Amino acid sequence: MKKVKIAIIGGTGFEKQLFKNFEKLRLGTPYGVPPPIFIGKINGKRVAFLPRHGPEHSTPPHKINYRANIYALHKLGVERILATNAVGAINLNFKPGDLVVPHDFVDFTKLRFTTFYDEKPVTHVDFSQPYCPETRKVLIDTAESLSFDVREKAVLICTEGPRYETPAEIEMFRRLGCDIVGMTGVPEAVLARELEICYASLCYVSNMAAGAQDRLTALEVSKISKEVMPKIKQILFETIRRLPQKRNCPCIHALRDARFK
Ligand code: HPA
Repeated sequence: MKKVKIAIIGGTGFEKQLFKNFEKLRLGTPYGVPPPIFIGKINGKRVAFLPRHGPEHSTPPHKINYRANIYALHKLGVERILATNAVGAINLNFKPGDLVVPHDFVDFTKLRFTTFYDEKPVTHVDFSQPYCPETRKVLIDTAESLSFDVREKAVLICTEGPRYETPAEIEMFRRLGCDIVGMTGVPEAVLARELEICYASLCYVSNMAAGAQDRLTALEVSKISKEVMPKIKQILFETIRRLPQKRNCPCIHALRDARFK
C-alpha cells in the first residue's frame, strides 16, 4: 500500500469539503476497526481523513476507539496528524468562532484506553511539549498569513462527556488555568505521540462553557462548526502545502529513552 504521510482527524462529512475525489478504506487493527478512512489529494499531497465520530456521527466521544483510529493511521504510514476539535471557552476572553491552537492539555477523562503500552517494556513517553512544536508553528503561521486571528496559547482540558460540564466544574477548571474544554482531544494526542506521530490541533470555540451562557446545546455547536469550517479548510490546505517534507521535531524520537529495558 502506498504510504500517506499526513492525516486530518475531524468531523463527520468533512471529506466532501476536503477532497474532489477520494477513496474509502476500511482497515483492521489489533484494537478493533476504525471508521472508514478517506484518502484524497490536497495541494498535490496524499492526505487521509478520519471522521472520529464515525461516518454518520454515531459514536459519542467517550465511545470512540481512539487506539484503533491512531493505530490505523500509523499503519497507513502517517507521520503528522492535524486534528480539528470543537471546544467550549472557559477563558472569558475567548469567544464563539475563535480559532485556537492549544499548547498544553489536562486529561480529565475517566473511561478511555490511553496507551498502547500495557505490557513490557514499561514505557513512559515524555509530554513536556504536549503538541508537536513544528506542526503547531506551521498551523499558527499559516493562519496568521491568511489574516485569520488565531489564539496560539491555550490549555485544553478534556472531559469524559458525553454530558456538558457543570458551572462548578468549569469554575474549577478556570481556577486551574484551563482555557478551553472539549471531549475528544485526549487520548488522541497521547496515542499519536506514543507512535511517534506529530499531532497538533486546530480548535474552534463553539460556545462559552457552562456558567458563562444560559444553556448549552449540540445545535449551537453544529451551527458554529458550519460557519468556521471554510476557514479551517483554508488553514489546513495551506498548512499541508507548507509542512516540510522532513520532520524536524522531538516527536520523531518520542520512544527514545522512554523504556525500562
Ligand atoms: N464542553 C465540552 N465539550 C465541548 C464543549 C463544551 O462546552 N463545546 C464543544 N465541545
